[in-house]
Amino acid sequence: MDKLLITGGIPLEGEIRISGAKNAALPILAATLLADGPVKVGNIPHLQDITTTMELLGRMGVELVVDERMNIEVDCSTIRELFAPYELVKSMRASILVLGPMLARFGEAVVSLPGGCAIGSRPVNLHIEGLVKMGADVHVEGGYIHAKARRLKATRLVMDLVTVTGTENLMMAATLAEGTTVIENAAREPEVVDLANCLNAMGAKINGAGSNTIAVEGVDGLSGTHYDVLPDRIESGTYLAAAAITGGHVRIKDTQPRMLEAVIEKLREAGARVEVGDRWIDLDMKGCRPRAINIRTSPYPAFPTDMQAQFTTLNVVAEGAATISETVFENRFMHVHELRRMGADIQLEGNTAVTRGVERLTAAPVMATDLRASASLVLAGLVAEGDTVVERIYHIDRGYESIEEKLAKLGARIRRVPA
Ligand code: UD1
Repeated sequence: MDKLLITGGIPLEGEIRISGAKNAALPILAATLLADGPVKVGNIPHLQDITTTMELLGRMGVELVVDERMNIEVDCSTIRELFAPYELVKSMRASILVLGPMLARFGEAVVSLPGGCAIGSRPVNLHIEGLVKMGADVHVEGGYIHAKARRLKATRLVMDLVTVTGTENLMMAATLAEGTTVIENAAREPEVVDLANCLNAMGAKINGAGSNTIAVEGVDGLSGTHYDVLPDRIESGTYLAAAAITGGHVRIKDTQPRMLEAVIEKLREAGARVEVGDRWIDLDMKGCRPRAINIRTSPYPAFPTDMQAQFTTLNVVAEGAATISETVFENRFMHVHELRRMGADIQLEGNTAVTRGVERLTAAPVMATDLRASASLVLAGLVAEGDTVVERIYHIDRGYESIEEKLAKLGARIRRVPA
């Protein structure tokens, strides 16, 4: 497996473009299963998770054509198999997103149950319960979810807790159901809104996406369309955090500042000067060390769990002590142990990490087994003294397009070392 070799100590400077959002592209690719005609999806990031999704759709018999700019045209008219195998679902949990669309459109689906993962047990019970309430016949056998329904029926779904892919799965299923489905306590993430916009462009009738009540009036069929995925707010936040941690000055382009309000507020609290335009964010740390900031993760619009690890790195090199509470996933602190190996002072107390900023981190070989934890180690490498080797970067490639090229463009000394 490839590694990243990073020589720390350089403040990041310059300008980079933000890619399309992984977490919007994945449900939108799954949504193409609902359309009667070809759907062309643009601004797709070049990522391992996208390749896995394409493989999943391809194995079902779906035709995919990718052009050199990563526009993907998906034609589901050739579908043969309503099946998502374990070997793909285990490498990417978001594969569960094909369940709702397959069931709604073809009346049947067999999807592997995702197992636990590095950041927690992550069940999909709410996806299943929602489909059952819509009249589906679902049973789990041999590790697979077997679902059947003649036509799903609209109902009122009150979600026990806020789930992003759960909301997306049920919203997709409801587009072809009989009647108007109402999802209460829905996730409000911008990626849910992007999916709803894409579905509406295909002819769906969805209202309220972005609020906690989504109404989906079922239609008889959806058609093909062309849709561009929104920018990746987590990639945006990661580069802003990297700039702040290194005392640098970075401008990110082709992003949407409004999706990052909670993150920008925390960066300002840490001492950064942040300016925003329509589609850009400029962060200047003026060579200073950040101040430590207290953080509590929660569903959107609060501070995202997907930025928690990167801000832990910020806090470990910042001035002062602070707490980071993780309320979304039960076990999302694996980066803590690796950061400690680089000299960080962090105490874990339940779901809270207490950090005391140190003047310097020292390079070490490190690795993590989830995407954002791996990113936080890259960020640590950018400020550590010496050469940090980040191993198992397979996880980074799942979610960050060309991370070493983008960081190198900002002046970082980073290179990929083939295994
Ligand atoms: C999505 C994102 C992921 C992000 C997460 C939280 C995608 C592809 N992934 O993941 O990057 O970290 O949202 O913002 O969009 N839960 C249940 N039962 C369920 C479903 C969820 O108990 O049926 C729990 C989970 O274990 C977790 C919490 O709900 O504790 C939130 O998880 P959820 O929003 O579902 O995360 P994902 O959609 O998997």
